[in-house]
Amino acid sequence: MRGKILLGSAGAFMLLAGCSSGEPDAAAPPEAGDTTVHKIMVNQIDKNADALWDVSNAAIGNNGGLDPAKMDDARWDRIAELAEKVAAGSHAVAALDPITVAAPGVTIGDSGLPGGHTAQQVQGFIAANPELFRDMATTLGTHMDEIAAAAHARDAAKAGPLIDQLDSVCESCHINFWYPEQKDLIEQFQNEGVVDPDHPALGPAAPQTAGE
Ligand code: HEC
Repeated sequence: MRGKILLGSAGAFMLLAGCSSGEPDAAAPPEAGDTTVHKIMVNQIDKNADALWDVSNAAIGNNGGLDPAKMDDARWDRIAELAEKVAAGSHAVAALDPITVAAPGVTIGDSGLPGGHTAQQVQGFIAANPELFRDMATTLGTHMDEIAAAAHARDAAKAGPLIDQLDSVCESCHINFWYPEQKDLIEQFQNEGVVDPDHPALGPAAPQTAGE
Protein backbone atom coordinates (compact mmCIF):
# COMPACT_ATOMS: atom_id res chain seq x y z
CA MET A 1 0.00 0.00 0.00
CA ARG A 2 1.25 3.43 -0.81
CA GLY A 3 -0.86 5.70 1.33
CA LYS A 4 -1.50 9.13 -0.11
CA ILE A 5 -3.64 11.02 2.33
CA LEU A 6 -2.38 10.06 5.72
CA LEU A 7 -2.51 12.03 8.91
CA GLY A 8 -1.28 11.29 12.40
CA SER A 9 0.71 8.41 13.72
CA ALA A 10 -1.72 5.83 12.44
CA GLY A 11 -1.06 7.25 9.01
CA ALA A 12 2.66 7.15 9.59
CA PHE A 13 2.36 3.51 10.51
CA MET A 14 0.39 2.77 7.39
CA LEU A 15 2.95 4.55 5.30
CA LEU A 16 5.63 2.32 6.82
CA ALA A 17 3.47 -0.74 6.41
CA GLY A 18 2.95 0.26 2.81
CA CYS A 19 6.67 0.45 2.21
CA SER A 20 7.21 -3.03 3.50
CA SER A 21 8.41 -5.38 0.87
CA GLY A 22 6.29 -7.87 -0.96
CA GLU A 23 8.11 -10.72 0.76
CA PRO A 24 5.68 -13.43 1.72
CA ASP A 25 5.14 -13.64 5.46
CA ALA A 26 6.63 -16.98 6.41
CA ALA A 27 4.37 -17.17 9.46
CA ALA A 28 1.21 -16.52 7.47
CA PRO A 29 -1.26 -19.39 7.59
CA PRO A 30 -2.58 -20.91 4.37
CA GLU A 31 -4.90 -18.68 2.35
CA ALA A 32 -7.74 -21.18 2.27
CA GLY A 33 -8.36 -20.68 5.99
CA ASP A 34 -8.79 -16.92 5.71
CA THR A 35 -12.28 -16.11 6.93
CA THR A 36 -11.84 -12.61 8.37
CA VAL A 37 -11.27 -9.23 6.71
CA HIS A 38 -7.97 -8.94 8.58
CA LYS A 39 -6.56 -12.27 7.41
CA ILE A 40 -7.59 -11.79 3.81
CA MET A 41 -6.27 -8.21 3.85
CA VAL A 42 -2.86 -9.27 5.17
CA ASN A 43 -2.38 -12.65 3.48
CA GLN A 44 -4.01 -12.12 0.11
CA ILE A 45 -4.65 -8.46 -0.67
CA ASP A 46 -1.75 -6.45 0.78
CA LYS A 47 0.93 -9.06 0.24
CA ASN A 48 0.12 -9.58 -3.43
CA ALA A 49 -0.60 -5.90 -4.18
CA ASP A 50 2.80 -4.95 -2.72
CA ALA A 51 4.48 -7.59 -4.87
CA LEU A 52 2.59 -6.29 -7.92
CA TRP A 53 3.75 -2.73 -7.20
CA ASP A 54 7.33 -4.04 -6.90
CA VAL A 55 7.08 -5.39 -10.45
CA SER A 56 5.36 -2.31 -11.91
CA ASN A 57 7.67 0.14 -10.11
CA ALA A 58 10.59 -1.48 -11.90
CA ALA A 59 8.93 -0.77 -15.26
CA ILE A 60 7.74 2.83 -14.89
CA GLY A 61 8.31 4.92 -18.00
CA ASN A 62 9.63 8.49 -18.20
CA ASN A 63 6.11 9.91 -18.17
CA GLY A 64 4.70 7.51 -15.61
CA GLY A 65 2.66 4.51 -16.63
CA LEU A 66 4.21 1.27 -17.73
CA ASP A 67 7.02 1.36 -20.26
CA PRO A 68 6.35 -1.61 -22.59
CA ALA A 69 10.09 -1.80 -23.35
CA LYS A 70 10.73 -2.55 -19.68
CA MET A 71 8.13 -5.31 -19.65
CA ASP A 72 8.85 -8.86 -20.67
CA ASP A 73 6.76 -12.03 -20.61
CA ALA A 74 7.92 -12.93 -17.11
CA ARG A 75 6.89 -9.52 -15.73
CA TRP A 76 3.53 -9.55 -17.52
CA ASP A 77 2.80 -13.06 -16.28
CA ARG A 78 3.76 -12.10 -12.74
CA ILE A 79 1.48 -9.03 -12.82
CA ALA A 80 -1.40 -11.16 -14.12
CA GLU A 81 -0.83 -13.81 -11.46
CA LEU A 82 -0.59 -11.29 -8.60
CA ALA A 83 -3.62 -9.31 -9.84
CA GLU A 84 -5.63 -12.54 -9.93
CA LYS A 85 -4.60 -13.28 -6.33
CA VAL A 86 -5.65 -9.81 -5.14
CA ALA A 87 -8.90 -10.21 -7.11
CA ALA A 88 -9.59 -13.55 -5.42
CA GLY A 89 -9.00 -11.95 -2.00
CA SER A 90 -11.28 -9.02 -2.85
CA HIS A 91 -14.09 -11.26 -4.02
CA ALA A 92 -13.61 -13.35 -0.86
CA VAL A 93 -14.00 -10.20 1.27
CA ALA A 94 -17.13 -9.25 -0.67
CA ALA A 95 -18.56 -12.73 -0.04
CA LEU A 96 -17.94 -12.77 3.73
CA ASP A 97 -21.23 -13.33 5.54
CA PRO A 98 -21.18 -12.35 8.28
CA ILE A 99 -18.40 -9.82 7.78
CA THR A 100 -16.00 -10.49 10.65
CA VAL A 101 -13.08 -8.07 10.93
CA ALA A 102 -10.84 -10.28 13.05
CA ALA A 103 -11.05 -13.42 15.14
CA PRO A 104 -11.43 -12.83 18.89
CA GLY A 105 -8.13 -11.82 20.47
CA VAL A 106 -6.49 -10.86 17.17
CA THR A 107 -4.95 -7.39 17.19
CA ILE A 108 -5.16 -5.46 13.93
CA GLY A 109 -2.24 -3.47 12.56
CA ASP A 110 -2.63 0.01 14.03
CA SER A 111 -4.66 -0.79 17.15
CA GLY A 112 -1.77 -0.31 19.58
CA LEU A 113 -0.92 3.14 18.24
CA PRO A 114 -2.28 6.52 19.30
CA GLY A 115 -5.21 7.27 17.00
CA GLY A 116 -5.30 3.61 15.99
CA HIS A 117 -8.33 1.36 15.88
CA THR A 118 -9.42 -1.91 17.38
CA ALA A 119 -11.02 -4.65 15.33
CA GLN A 120 -14.22 -3.93 17.27
CA GLN A 121 -14.25 -0.29 16.17
CA VAL A 122 -13.73 -1.30 12.55
CA GLN A 123 -16.51 -3.88 12.97
CA GLY A 124 -18.81 -1.01 14.00
CA PHE A 125 -17.84 1.12 10.99
CA ILE A 126 -18.66 -1.78 8.66
CA ALA A 127 -21.91 -2.63 10.48
CA ALA A 128 -23.11 0.90 9.70
CA ASN A 129 -22.97 0.22 5.95
CA PRO A 130 -22.17 -3.37 5.00
CA GLU A 131 -23.53 -2.91 1.44
CA LEU A 132 -21.04 -0.13 0.70
CA PHE A 133 -18.25 -2.24 2.20
CA ARG A 134 -19.13 -5.20 -0.06
CA ASP A 135 -19.46 -2.88 -3.06
CA MET A 136 -16.00 -1.48 -2.45
CA ALA A 137 -14.52 -4.97 -2.13
CA THR A 138 -16.19 -5.91 -5.42
CA THR A 139 -14.87 -2.71 -7.02
CA LEU A 140 -11.33 -3.73 -6.06
CA GLY A 141 -11.96 -7.26 -7.38
CA THR A 142 -13.18 -5.91 -10.72
CA HIS A 143 -10.26 -3.49 -10.91
CA MET A 144 -7.83 -6.37 -10.38
CA ASP A 145 -9.64 -8.53 -12.96
CA GLU A 146 -9.10 -5.68 -15.45
CA ILE A 147 -5.40 -5.44 -14.57
CA ALA A 148 -5.04 -9.20 -15.06
CA ALA A 149 -6.81 -9.02 -18.44
CA ALA A 150 -4.59 -6.12 -19.58
CA ALA A 151 -1.51 -8.06 -18.46
CA HIS A 152 -2.58 -11.16 -20.36
CA ALA A 153 -3.10 -8.92 -23.43
CA ARG A 154 0.34 -7.29 -22.85
CA ASP A 155 -1.48 -3.95 -23.01
CA ALA A 156 0.73 -1.40 -21.23
CA ALA A 157 -1.51 1.53 -22.21
CA LYS A 158 -4.37 -0.10 -20.36
CA ALA A 159 -2.49 -1.68 -17.46
CA GLY A 160 -0.47 1.44 -16.55
CA PRO A 161 -3.37 3.74 -15.60
CA LEU A 162 -5.19 0.90 -13.82
CA ILE A 163 -2.12 0.25 -11.67
CA ASP A 164 -1.75 4.00 -11.04
CA GLN A 165 -5.34 4.12 -9.78
CA LEU A 166 -5.03 1.05 -7.60
CA ASP A 167 -3.85 2.86 -4.50
CA SER A 168 -6.89 5.12 -4.44
CA VAL A 169 -9.19 2.10 -4.78
CA CYS A 170 -7.60 0.73 -1.58
CA GLU A 171 -7.72 4.09 0.17
CA SER A 172 -11.35 4.83 -0.63
CA CYS A 173 -12.35 1.79 1.41
CA HIS A 174 -9.85 2.45 4.21
CA ILE A 175 -11.07 6.05 4.63
CA ASN A 176 -14.64 4.80 5.00
CA PHE A 177 -14.14 1.76 7.16
CA TRP A 178 -10.71 1.72 8.80
CA TYR A 179 -9.98 5.31 9.89
CA PRO A 180 -13.11 7.27 8.93
CA GLU A 181 -12.32 10.18 11.27
CA GLN A 182 -9.51 11.10 8.90
CA LYS A 183 -12.13 11.69 6.23
CA ASP A 184 -13.74 14.38 8.37
CA LEU A 185 -10.35 15.81 9.26
CA ILE A 186 -9.26 16.04 5.65
CA GLU A 187 -12.53 17.66 4.60
CA GLN A 188 -12.34 20.06 7.54
CA PHE A 189 -8.74 20.99 6.75
CA GLN A 190 -9.56 21.47 3.10
CA ASN A 191 -12.50 23.71 3.94
CA GLU A 192 -10.43 25.77 6.35
CA GLY A 193 -7.52 25.95 3.95
CA VAL A 194 -5.15 24.88 6.73
CA VAL A 195 -3.70 21.88 4.92
CA ASP A 196 -0.14 22.62 4.01
CA PRO A 197 0.06 21.31 0.45
CA ASP A 198 3.70 20.38 1.05
CA HIS A 199 2.98 18.32 4.15
CA PRO A 200 4.79 15.02 3.61
CA ALA A 201 1.75 13.08 4.80
CA LEU A 202 -0.17 14.34 1.79
CA GLY A 203 2.37 12.89 -0.60
CA PRO A 204 3.66 14.36 -3.84
CA ALA A 205 0.25 14.42 -5.50
CA ALA A 206 -1.26 16.96 -3.07
CA PRO A 207 -3.01 19.66 -5.07
CA GLN A 208 -2.10 23.29 -4.48
CA THR A 209 -4.93 24.89 -2.53
CA ALA A 210 -5.95 28.28 -3.84
CA GLY A 211 -5.54 31.15 -1.39
CA GLU A 212 -8.69 32.86 -0.21
C1 HEC B 1 -13.51 -3.29 0.96
C2 HEC B 1 -12.67 -2.46 1.76
C3 HEC B 1 -11.18 -2.52 1.61
C4 HEC B 1 -10.43 -2.47 0.45
C5 HEC B 1 -10.93 -2.32 -0.98
C6 HEC B 1 -9.06 -2.56 0.87
N1 HEC B 1 -8.95 -2.66 2.23
FE1 HEC B 1 -7.26 -2.84 3.32
N2 HEC B 1 -8.33 -2.83 5.04
C7 HEC B 1 -9.70 -2.74 5.13
C8 HEC B 1 -10.10 -2.72 6.51
C9 HEC B 1 -11.53 -2.64 7.03
C10 HEC B 1 -8.92 -2.77 7.27
C11 HEC B 1 -8.79 -2.73 8.81
C12 HEC B 1 -8.72 -4.13 9.39
C13 HEC B 1 -7.31 -4.65 9.50
O1 HEC B 1 -6.39 -3.91 9.87
O2 HEC B 1 -7.11 -5.85 9.22
C14 HEC B 1 -7.82 -2.86 6.32
C15 HEC B 1 -6.49 -2.99 6.67
C16 HEC B 1 -5.44 -3.02 5.78
C17 HEC B 1 -4.06 -3.17 6.16
C18 HEC B 1 -3.55 -3.35 7.61
C19 HEC B 1 -3.66 -4.81 8.01
C20 HEC B 1 -3.25 -5.06 9.46
O3 HEC B 1 -2.06 -5.34 9.67
O4 HEC B 1 -4.10 -4.99 10.33
C21 HEC B 1 -3.31 -3.15 5.01
C22 HEC B 1 -1.79 -3.24 4.92
C23 HEC B 1 -4.24 -3.02 3.91
N3 HEC B 1 -5.53 -2.94 4.41
C24 HEC B 1 -3.87 -2.96 2.57
C25 HEC B 1 -4.77 -2.81 1.52
C26 HEC B 1 -4.39 -2.70 0.12
C27 HEC B 1 -2.97 -2.69 -0.39
C28 HEC B 1 -5.54 -2.60 -0.60
C29 HEC B 1 -5.70 -2.44 -2.09
C30 HEC B 1 -4.95 -3.30 -2.96
C31 HEC B 1 -6.64 -2.64 0.35
N4 HEC B 1 -6.14 -2.77 1.61
C32 HEC B 1 -7.98 -2.57 -0.02
C33 HEC B 1 -10.59 -2.68 4.07
C34 HEC B 1 -10.23 -2.62 2.73
